[in-house]
Parts: sequence; C-alpha cells; structure tokens
Amino acid sequence: MTDLHSEIKKRRTFAIISHPDAGKTTLTEKFLLYGKAINLAGSVKGKKTAKHAVSDWMEIEKERGISVTSSVLQFNYDGYCINILDTPGHQDFSEDTYRTLMAADSAVMVIDASKGVEKQTIKLFKVCVLRHIPIFTFINKMDREANDPYDLLEDIEKVLGIRTCPINWPIGSGKSFKGVYERKENCVTTFQAAMNGQKQVETSRLEVSDSNHDELISHVGNELYDKLMEDLELLDGASAEFDLEEVRAGDLTPVFFGSALTNFGVENFLKHFLTMTTSPLPRNSDIGEITPFQESFSAFVFKIQANMNKAHRDRIAFMRICSGKFEAGMDVNHVQGGKKVKLSQPQQMMAQERHIVEEAYAGDIIGVFDPGIFSIGDTLTNSGEKFQFEGIPTFAPEHFARVRQMDTMKRKQFVKGVNQIAQEGAIQIFQEFNAGMEEIIVGVVGVLQFDVLKYRLENEYNVEIRLEQLPYEHIRWIESRDIDVNKITGTSDMKKIKDLKDNPLLLFINPWSVNMVMERNPGLVLSEFGRN
Ligand code: G4P
Repeated sequence: MTDLHSEIKKRRTFAIISHPDAGKTTLTEKFLLYGKAINLAGSVKGKKTAKHAVSDWMEIEKERGISVTSSVLQFNYDGYCINILDTPGHQDFSEDTYRTLMAADSAVMVIDASKGVEKQTIKLFKVCVLRHIPIFTFINKMDREANDPYDLLEDIEKVLGIRTCPINWPIGSGKSFKGVYERKENCVTTFQAAMNGQKQVETSRLEVSDSNHDELISHVGNELYDKLMEDLELLDGASAEFDLEEVRAGDLTPVFFGSALTNFGVENFLKHFLTMTTSPLPRNSDIGEITPFQESFSAFVFKIQANMNKAHRDRIAFMRICSGKFEAGMDVNHVQGGKKVKLSQPQQMMAQERHIVEEAYAGDIIGVFDPGIFSIGDTLTNSGEKFQFEGIPTFAPEHFARVRQMDTMKRKQFVKGVNQIAQEGAIQIFQEFNAGMEEIIVGVVGVLQFDVLKYRLENEYNVEIRLEQLPYEHIRWIESRDIDVNKITGTSDMKKIKDLKDNPLLLFINPWSVNMVMERNPGLVLSEFGRN
C-alpha cells in the first residue's frame, strides 16, 4: 500500500481567495507555468477576448464571458501533485464559492498591495476560519505603488483577526521596487521586471552581510538600504515568530510580498507554501475521523453543476475524495440515498481541459455524472461501514427577491424547477413565516444567481417568472429550539421567514438590528450559518 500512501502524501489541495482584480487568476496562471502545465502565461484567461478558462457550457456564461462555476486545476510541481480550487469572484460569486472552501485543505489569500483587505476577502476568510484551515498570504502588485507594508499587516490582523508573520519583506514599491529581503535566508532577492510577465524571470540573490554592504547599496540605493536595515530591526522585535503549528491551525498567516504579473516571488512562494501546508488531512464523520490513507474510497459532494449538456439535462456532481483511491466505473454506496451507484464518466480538469480520469486519490476532486440523485454534502464510499461526512453549512444569502410566476397554470413546473435548482445549491428558498407556498422568497449569495434562476426556469422548465428584489441583506438562523418565534419582538426592518423544512429564520435590512433583536429577546441565539 506504499503506492496509495505516497500518492496521497504528495497531494496539496488548496483554494485561492481574493477580492476581484487582486491578481488571483494571474497568480494561478504563474503556478501553472512553473508546473509546466501551460507554456506561456496569459492563456488561462483572456478577459479582452472574452474567452474564459473554464467551461462555456451555459449560454449565460457565453453571453457575459464569465464563468458561473468554480473550476479545479491539477498539475505537478517538484514532486507534488497540486489541486487548485478556483473560487469565482466578481458578479458570479455564489454559494459555490463558499462551498469550494469546504473541499480545500488550505487557502492562499491574494491581497492587492495598494488596497489591503477588501470585502470579498473578508467573506471568504470567515469560511476558512470556520474550518481552521491554514491561510497563506500573497501581497501582490508590489511593482505598483503600494501601501506601507506595516499598514498592510496591521490591516490583515485587525480586519481579519489573524496574526501575521512576514516571510519576506519588500524593498520599495512601484517604480522603486528593488526586491525582497528573505528573512530566514538573510538575503535579498533582486527584482527585475521581465518581458511583460510572460516568461520566468531571472533574479539574483545577494547575501546581507558587512562584506556585501556595497553591492547591496549599489542595487537598492542608500535610502532604501537604510530603510531596510531599520525595518529589519523593527520586524524582529515586532512581528510574530514563525510557528508551523500555529500556521497549520489557522492562527498565524505567513505573508509573502511579490508581483504575480512579473513573476516576482511566485516560485519562492510556491516552494515555501508547499512545504508549510499539509497533505490531505482526516475529515470528520458521524463515526469519527476518516483518515485519507485508509484503503476504502470515500468522498463527499460539494458542488452540483447542472445541464452541462442541455439536450440530456444531466448534472455533474463534484466531489472531494477524502480517503483511498478512486477507480473509474467503481460501485460505491451513496449513503444518503441508501443505494449502490456506479460512478461513471469521471472527469477532472487538467490545466484547461476536462478529461476522463481512470484513477484519483484522497485530496483530488472529481466530477461524476449525476442522474439527479445527489445533493450537496452527500457521502459516497465503498467501505463496508456506512458513515456520513460532516455536513456542509448553508451560507448566508445576501440578496433576496420575491418570486412570482407569470402563468399560474404552470404551478407544478414552477415548484419542480425551483426545488431542483435549490437542491443543486444555487439558490435558497424560503416562505413567509405564517404562509404556504403561494409565494416564495429566494435568497442568493451573488446577484447573478437571480439571472441564472430566471434563465433556467424559462429555458429548462418553460416557466416565466417575475422577480421583485427585497431590501433585506442579513439573514440569521434561529438556533434556540425552545423559543416561540411568534413572540419574538423585532425591529421595524425585521421579517420572519421559514425554510422548506419549516426552520424559522429572520431577515434584516440593517446589520445593527441583529444585535438589537437579540437584546430584546433574552435566550434568542442566532447564527450566520445554517445546518443542512
Ligand atoms: P483576479 O483573478 O483576482 O480578478 O485578478 P487578475 O489576475 O485577473 O488581475 C487583475 C488585473 O491586475 C489584471 O489587469 C492583471 O494583469 C493585473 N495584475 C495582476 N497581478 C499583477 C501584478 O503583480 N502587478 C501588476 N502591475 N498588475 C497585476 P487587467 O488589465 O485588469 O487585465 P488583463 O487585461 O491584463 O487581463
């Protein structure tokens, strides 16, 4: 079984999170370049030609030149087998973006050096914290004018509440960016802008020592040299010490400065990151931890993608393999469905192409044909023992709309369509607290999902709808079981609703109303995440 063991040991599965435009795609592209999965950077995504890296299976994607789905890229580098999970940003931000983080073992957080921590990074970061996964920070765009590095670290610590440990330290920024000081190696890696970032750059390394003093000054100039010496003294006293245990527990984030566009610091980051992050870790289930190295195969579904082929109305269920080895066509138990199923047409993304996989290991992500039986969070295993992996939380939607069908005669199709789309996890459906299904309220994480819903109901279910957007932005699940929801006294902007399982929830327009309602109703416990 050493084969199984070594295959799993060399796997690294991580997600890249950032606010749109911080440079996530550029960094991913450079990783692929170092892994020789692509020849020339610039081919993953050409926004200008509206050609997108991922799938173009849905009209809405084609029309807008964006991807509604997350993708997974696998490549090899330096003896590692790397799975990168892309988390879509922009308008296509959806619950899938959050769920993708459930499949990752660590996260790389890309921050624009001139902006600091931005809104979407905060949202994604919260999910990483929920899972205690290690987070590695790449402060990008140092070739442009950047904020003061101390301010950037303080921003991360204050806004995100995680301690930082700079692994390297920038010397200047923008036009005067000279490179970075590598703290552990005690040397400076000099920066030379490369051919528009299309090739790997040659960098030189200069040791920081008294004998090398003049050479360093000739590279960085007197002023930046003095600043660097000052910074180094300060840093050693002020910043947290590197502690791998704390990094792996998600309490400390190693910080790297670089410039993805010009390739600067990317390979160095990749090398450090791969040694600091872990191979696939055990996952929790209702019978305890399931170790990745156990021989029997197990996986959970974290994403369902519908209608890859409109003519067949099929779906693809993406699953994260948690233990053992997957072989194409294998029979497994679908625990929630209580049936044996054959996992057919397994697919994997290799750089830019989707291809059929014959085998895959714990840590890998595969997509299998789903005849409509899987739900988000389902467990599949060929172990004799039936167990379920810990469920995937329901993430708080931030946009709500009342949905009405135009033709009331098509009630059945409407209910079926809305339910199926909700089952795939693209939308969440709610009802007025004291009413039936006459009218529904749809909640989504990203507004694009409203368009997707409308488009799909029209095209797949032949139902026209009208969406009336509601002003609510904050949703809370009611955790306290023994509370009489009718008696909850709220603020004027509060609305009571229920989900399809009759669980009560509260909607708010203003964020401060959440605390006010808790104060007014002693014993009321509210949660930002729901349980599936
Ligand atoms: P995203 O996936 O996080 O949304 O960001 P993406 O990589 O698409 O990068 C956003 C923009 O920032 C791109 O420019 C990209 O070239 C630029 N960029 C990324 N990394 C760096 C860097 O290290 N330095 C500098 N100066 N720029 C960087 P764009 O003009 O918006 O797009 P494109 O037309 O170049 O694709």
